[in-house]
Amino acid sequence: MYRTVRPLLFALDPETSHTLGLRALQAAYRFPMGQRMLTRLYSHNTPQIATRIMGIDFPNPICLAAGLDKNSEYIGPLACLGFGWIELGTVTPLPQVGNPRPRLFRISERLAVINRMGFNNQGIHTFVENLKRAGHPCIIGANIGKDKDTPLERASNDYITGINAVYTAVDYIAINISSPNTPGLRDLQDENILFQFLTTLKEAQTRLHQTHGRYVPLAIKISPDLTQDQLRQIAHTLRDAQIDAVIATNTTLTRPDFENDPRGYEAGGLSGKPLAPLATHAVKVLFDELRGQIPIIGVGGISNAMDAWERLIAGADLVQIYTALIYEGP
Ligand code: FNR
Repeated sequence: MYRTVRPLLFALDPETSHTLGLRALQAAYRFPMGQRMLTRLYSHNTPQIATRIMGIDFPNPICLAAGLDKNSEYIGPLACLGFGWIELGTVTPLPQVGNPRPRLFRISERLAVINRMGFNNQGIHTFVENLKRAGHPCIIGANIGKDKDTPLERASNDYITGINAVYTAVDYIAINISSPNTPGLRDLQDENILFQFLTTLKEAQTRLHQTHGRYVPLAIKISPDLTQDQLRQIAHTLRDAQIDAVIATNTTLTRPDFENDPRGYEAGGLSGKPLAPLATHAVKVLFDELRGQIPIIGVGGISNAMDAWERLIAGADLVQIYTALIYEGP
């Protein structure tokens, strides 16, 4: 069905077609018949590939990656599409407009996308309101970030605001320190900053665990643009800080095999097929260091069952997808 509407969607500016696609899905979901149709088309029962990590039972290992539903507006409709779980956000404490448009670019021949959205979102308050209204139709992660104007020294305050706000409403919390579109954000991955930063977040998690009697895991989302040594160092730090999972990876600032291709010059993070080798490499290095001590969620350029299988073989426990959804639909 998606193949039929794709030419229409792709005739529009990418961000407009993105919004339109989500609204159409939501419109279908509003009617009981639409819900039944979506469920019949896309849901599947595959207990053979159910997976348990972070103390959570995932009905299947395929997740919708962060970035599509930044404000928790489409939880019900997205839950009908057969994902084992969905990650919402990135949400920041305050509402943000993000970067000026255009800020999303399709590179169709390469099954790739460049985005420089810049954490456009309605802020944590609206996010949590929407989350509560939607209920809990599937396993949900909230991906949180810092406001653009918050200096790095105070970044942990923003993340703690996010953790406090979503703690009782989600199954896990993803800490995004790897978006390339918020200046300085990736510096939080620096070995001199990371351990202290994570320790502060773990203290907040411990406090909330005691208060609510429920442990909500923290997963750290990292960049694909790290050297092998940096990846190894991060693996050690995550283990020392007792982080619950690592999500590898976010989009890349590099442009693999884009020599002489002018579309590669757009600023922003590249996702989709060309990201796959980098993201797989990150998973391999992390697994080599962690050996199962911390679960790995693999993401980047996965667009079919073989890609997913390769990522699992590289060491991932679960996988996420985003760009393939733009090109292939549910
Ligand atoms: C993203 N991604 C992303 N990641 C994140 O942690 N927070 C975010 O807000 C966003 N926003 C976002 C917007 C758009 C338009 C895209 C394409 C991607 C990154 C995404 O979650 C994922 O890590 C990468 O896109 C790599 O996976 P795919 O797209 O190659 O499957």
